[in-house]
Amino acid sequence: MNFLPWGTLFFSILWASVVAAIPSRTIDTRASSPYVSTSGSGFVVNGSSLKYIGTNVYWLPTLNTNEDIRNTLANISALGIKVVRLWAFNDVATIPADGTWLQLIQNGTVSVNDGPNGLQKLDTVIQLAEEQGLYVILSLTNNWDPVPLSNDTRLRNYLSNNYGGMDTYVRQFGLQTHDQFYTNPSVLTSFLNYTTQVVSRYVNSPSVFSYELANDARCNSTLPASATCTTETITAWHATVAAHIRSIDPNHLISSGVGGYLCPDCPKLYPLTAPAPPVTSPAPGKKKRSQAKPVTKKQILREESERRRRNREVAKRAGTLVEDGVRVRGRWVSTSTKRQQSSTSGSLYDGSYGVDSQDISNIPDIGFSSFQLFPDQQSYGPDDPNIPSWQNIEQNGAQWITTQAQSAAAVGKPAVLTAFGLVTQANAPDFVPFNSTVAPFASENLAKRQSTLGYGVTDQQQATTYTTWLDTGIASGLNGIVQYQWGQSGLTAEPGTTIDPPTTTGESPTPSSPGETPTPQQTTGSSPNDGYAITGSNTVQQILGNSAQSIAAD
Ligand SMILES: *[C@@H]1O[C@H](CO)[C@@H](O)[C@H](O)[C@H]1NC(C)=O
Ligand SMILES: *[C@@H]1O[C@H](CO)[C@@H](O)[C@H](O)[C@H]1NC(C)=O
Ligand SMILES: *[C@@H]1O[C@H](CO)[C@@H](O)[C@H](O)[C@H]1NC(C)=O
Ligand SMILES: *[C@@H]1O[C@H](CO)[C@@H](O)[C@H](O)[C@H]1NC(C)=O
Ligand SMILES: *[C@@H]1O[C@H](CO)[C@@H](O)[C@H](O)[C@H]1NC(C)=O
Ligand SMILES: *[C@@H]1O[C@H](CO)[C@@H](O)[C@H](O)[C@H]1NC(C)=O
Ligand SMILES: *[C@@H]1O[C@H](CO)[C@@H](O)[C@H](O)[C@H]1NC(C)=O
Repeated sequence: MNFLPWGTLFFSILWASVVAAIPSRTIDTRASSPYVSTSGSGFVVNGSSLKYIGTNVYWLPTLNTNEDIRNTLANISALGIKVVRLWAFNDVATIPADGTWLQLIQNGTVSVNDGPNGLQKLDTVIQLAEEQGLYVILSLTNNWDPVPLSNDTRLRNYLSNNYGGMDTYVRQFGLQTHDQFYTNPSVLTSFLNYTTQVVSRYVNSPSVFSYELANDARCNSTLPASATCTTETITAWHATVAAHIRSIDPNHLISSGVGGYLCPDCPKLYPLTAPAPPVTSPAPGKKKRSQAKPVTKKQILREESERRRRNREVAKRAGTLVEDGVRVRGRWVSTSTKRQQSSTSGSLYDGSYGVDSQDISNIPDIGFSSFQLFPDQQSYGPDDPNIPSWQNIEQNGAQWITTQAQSAAAVGKPAVLTAFGLVTQANAPDFVPFNSTVAPFASENLAKRQSTLGYGVTDQQQATTYTTWLDTGIASGLNGIVQYQWGQSGLTAEPGTTIDPPTTTGESPTPSSPGETPTPQQTTGSSPNDGYAITGSNTVQQILGNSAQSIAAD
């Protein structure tokens, strides 16, 4: 079902040119608009401010029945969640026998699928989200796109990195390095063409929260980076694509989707001008917001040693102080285990991934600052031997959140954590890192997982950590916090969907929606789990629900 007829599309193009001809839109017009926009460092819609909890559902457009999509969105909305983030791309190199696909990228040519299993499926998702009062962040491509091994038995689209993306363009255009995605003129033309076709469908849809240019853009992916890729390469690409979207759609926010890596010492394409704008001063009785000063390496070091000092004091009082470091000229220096190097010398703040998220956030067409938090795949700071591993994850994650809030404040734009997750022991066998298609802990049995040798945190540690991160995010003034990822049971399993039917089927086939041919294999199952799904976790759902209430009241 296509809810956006061609007449509307024609009208929106016309409207776009009318709006483009108006010299300047006033803040008031924007603030009272039904489209989400920004005012200072906050989001506004219809004249009211908006802060939200969200969740990731990259697999939503792969579901075959509208009932499944509607139920999933209704379950999400029932918790008070306001935003879902999902993949608005699904690139294939050969047309699959069944299921959703959005673009064929084959041997240097591309064609977009605007049929019922193509962009019309995205239309349906957005329309059903609107019915549930949800906004949608539409991500337009992915940094992570490894080719599955030949023995991989997973359903297509099961993993978040199995929807095509940058490396599919690179491979199918006969190129070699990952960063040619950003610089090759033919690839850029094709990507802008795809972007045009997606964006022009939703110019008049108030339920699009933002167009996100890419998930976790970097110089590197499974394909290597060329020697010429720098932070400026990736910042320039964001500016080009954002300007292109802005020329088609004057209504919606544009965001980057990067991991949030900062590089205080990198050259800037969009340097901060003048003194940083003042952050909206907190109302009386409210918490103090982040300072609007750019993040410096010196500051990061100071905060790390301050946190270490506090942990040592607590440990000393408890009589559990660990002296496993060495003293160098009177100062404590940690032993060199893999995570104990200072984060200031690590990849978070040195531009080694080719990402300077402050420079990207300061691009005029980028509406807000965004970042991610995945401690199972990236260290967010040195480990302190005086606290257990999971508490290091909790504290370093909280520090990353406040640092990001500060960086966004320095740019004077809202800040959104677009994805965060922590793998539990229960989820460990399903965990697949974003740059991989193999689950490294798949063979761990329950006994090993529940011992200290096993991978993952306990459910309780996850609950505590999520609560800390959400509370820290709200206290430091984040405007949106989006958990990764939602899990839904009771979905229809059919060929072409991402739903793994249970091996022992106690459930009877669910009736199909009118107009759909029932298939004998049909049964029900759960949405994909890449190690982060919260299917059936009432605890995490409750935590998200509670935070949805606090952030709305903030
Ligand atoms: C904004 O206002 C429009 C028009 O009055 C209304 O249809 C829409 O539901 C409102 N949106 C929100 C988020 O309140
Ligand atoms: C959640 O979805 C299930 C179907 O998957 C449905 O039975 C249930 O009523 C939904 N709950 C809410 C709160 O919408
Ligand atoms: C790919 O395109 C090239 C040049 O357009 C052509 O020579 C070649 O035959 C094509 N290969 C395939 C497999 O279609
Ligand atoms: C743009 O997309 C359309 C529709 O898929 C396709 O026909 C056309 O060849 C594309 N143009 C470029 C330059 O990729
Ligand atoms: C496929 O093979 C690789 C090694 O080549 C192995 O690590 C992986 O576990 C295998 N996957 C499956 C699903 O058997
Ligand atoms: C991703 O994995 C490939 C091997 O599959 C490796 O060569 C590459 O360096 C990895 N890239 C990153 C950024 O970790
Ligand atoms: C690419 O990734 C590899 C492995 O993670 C790393 O050693 C290298 O520095 C990265 N290079 C760039 C340019 O990002």
